[in-house]
Amino acid sequence: MKAIQMTGYGTPSEVCQCVEVDDVGEPGPGEVVIAIEAAAINPADLLIIEGKYASKPPLPAALGIEGAGRIAAVGEGVDNPAVGDRVMSLARANWTERVRVKAGLAVPMPAEADMLQLGMMKANPATAHLMLRDYVELEAGDWVIQNAANSGVGRYLIALARRRGLKTVNLVRRESLARELQNIGADVVVLDGDEVAERIAAATDGAAIKLAIDAIAGSATLRLADCLADGGVVVNYGLLSGEPCMIRSEHTVFHDISLKGFWLAKTMGEITPRDLMAMYDDLSALIADGTLSVPVEATYGLDEIAAALDHAGREGRGGKVVLTPAS
Ligand SMILES: NC(=O)c1ccc[n+]([C@@H]2O[C@H](COP(=O)([O-])OP(=O)(O)OC[C@H]3O[C@@H](n4cnc5c(N)ncnc54)[C@H](OP(=O)(O)O)[C@@H]3O)[C@@H](O)[C@H]2O)c1
Repeated sequence: MKAIQMTGYGTPSEVCQCVEVDDVGEPGPGEVVIAIEAAAINPADLLIIEGKYASKPPLPAALGIEGAGRIAAVGEGVDNPAVGDRVMSLARANWTERVRVKAGLAVPMPAEADMLQLGMMKANPATAHLMLRDYVELEAGDWVIQNAANSGVGRYLIALARRRGLKTVNLVRRESLARELQNIGADVVVLDGDEVAERIAAATDGAAIKLAIDAIAGSATLRLADCLADGGVVVNYGLLSGEPCMIRSEHTVFHDISLKGFWLAKTMGEITPRDLMAMYDDLSALIADGTLSVPVEATYGLDEIAAALDHAGREGRGGKVVLTPAS
């Protein structure tokens, strides 16, 4: 079967290849085989390949944090999921035709859900949900601000906030995105940059913003902190700028603003399996009914991996790049 393998750290399209590997074989007792149909390429995958992530897998390494597909075979003792069921894979190497995992790592998904959307649902919807839930107590009518608002996480966050009656300020680096984000429920969309706090105060009637969600770091963190009310929290979860997060003593000392970090891998390790399944049940229902949806700009087969990785690394994409191993 085909799988993506990384043989060095560096430019993703140069160090990753589609290779022929041994089939995963029949599932053992308590195991299932998932035929992967959709697997997003996320910024975290690119960071792993570039050697900039928290962990550096030994080489050659199999890749692909996310993946979804259908159950191709079940081992002894597995009643659920059954052959043909749609599942999301909690395995960590999903850029392949098939994975063999413990049944508990194949999370059942609604039959009516779009497979491409399921191929993006392990990391980003959960990240948006947990960052909105875990840092600041928010009530209907409260405001939240985020940057990189047109990202996958950003779009899920807009939809989840709206469901809870929260209002969102959304910073982007391309003005042309305003209408698109307003159409999915963004209350305010603002171009990130100079004097952003003043522009946001004008757009929100001086609303007290308690939570800021930061994917970029560097001076972008500082601009978010400038927009927060006293006691507010900046949650940094991404390093898109590659720069250290900036915050001033005036923020922390005079205004009691704090900076925290979120990492899904760590948080998932702290959630009980029952709560994890309940969270994915809720999120997948929202994916199935279209409440949570992110545009897909392009799909690629496994043997087009170099083009797919180049595309995923481009600025100004209109949506995610998803591998479709069964195509
Ligand atoms: N901590 C965690 O556990 C966790 C979990 C999931 C995701 N993440 C992080 O969340 C972030 C978004 O991921 P995603 O999959 O939602 O992204 P995505 O859908 O692939 O979109 C990428 C976004 O990043 C923006 N961007 C890229 N480089 C940038 C830069 N240098 N400065 C400002 N904006 C930049 C893009 O803006 P344009 O459209 O204008 O190019 C776009 O909005 C990533 O940093 C990812 O690593 C973290």
